Amino acid sequence: MAEIIAKRRLAPQITLYEISAARIAQNARPGQFVILRLSEQGERIPLTIADFDRERGVITIVVQEVGKTTMELARYEPGDHILDLLGPCGTGIEIKQYGRVACVCGGLGAAPIYPKAKALRAAGNEIITFIGAQTAERFVFSEELAAVSSEMHYATDDGSYGHHGFVTDVLRKYLESGRTVDKAIAVGPVPMMKAVCEITKQFDIPTTVSLNAIMVDGTGMCGGCRVTVVGEIKFSCIDGPSFDGHQVDFDELTMRQRFYRQQEQESMQRHVCRLGGIE
Ligand code: FES
Repeated sequence: MAEIIAKRRLAPQITLYEISAARIAQNARPGQFVILRLSEQGERIPLTIADFDRERGVITIVVQEVGKTTMELARYEPGDHILDLLGPCGTGIEIKQYGRVACVCGGLGAAPIYPKAKALRAAGNEIITFIGAQTAERFVFSEELAAVSSEMHYATDDGSYGHHGFVTDVLRKYLESGRTVDKAIAVGPVPMMKAVCEITKQFDIPTTVSLNAIMVDGTGMCGGCRVTVVGEIKFSCIDGPSFDGHQVDFDELTMRQRFYRQQEQESMQRHVCRLGGIE
């Protein structure tokens, strides 16, 4: 059992939780994740660790209400306990001195990219952040990222803040202007990460992506999170979730992400009906 000690709404349907989890905080590295379960029969969902404080024994996760479990979690308050919290899982990313690093994130990807940007900055890198969201009010972790970045570049789908359009347009313009970066990391929706990799490949910039493959057990046993990297099968939960973006088969990943869409929608529908007293 892990106690929620703080909860803060960051944007509509997006909430930050601080959870007391001393051993996870002690061992966490940027890029790792936890697996959470709310009830004995509940599904296991992977959530990236957005921050950790070893002294306080606290980890931070940021959750968007997109399905049954995340909607259920939204009703939890400080003082409530999460039944199971497993982690830290995954391999994390390599933190070393590259020089200038472009951190490209979209939507909720800003939260998981933050500990990476912070650690890369602490390792002596210059951080240039490219952050995208649907609207100005849906930016998350932009202040935290600004605190560790030399430059912030914003984009919104509706043009309410920064560039009107994709964050990848901004990245492309930046690179086409002749400015250089030595390394890129990208976290966000699969089409965004795929687009980032297409751009950085043209400019020969090594790029690490964080894949949000569907996970079930999180231990390398079920095969649910299978991805193809350099023609080889890898499991996101134990081999990743960070991979060389230029080697990932994004088309296969996109297809696999659609596998359970119908079941997810049905499960969410049942949950919404229960909350509304229909079932
Ligand atoms: S989640 Fe089952 S193998 Fe990775």
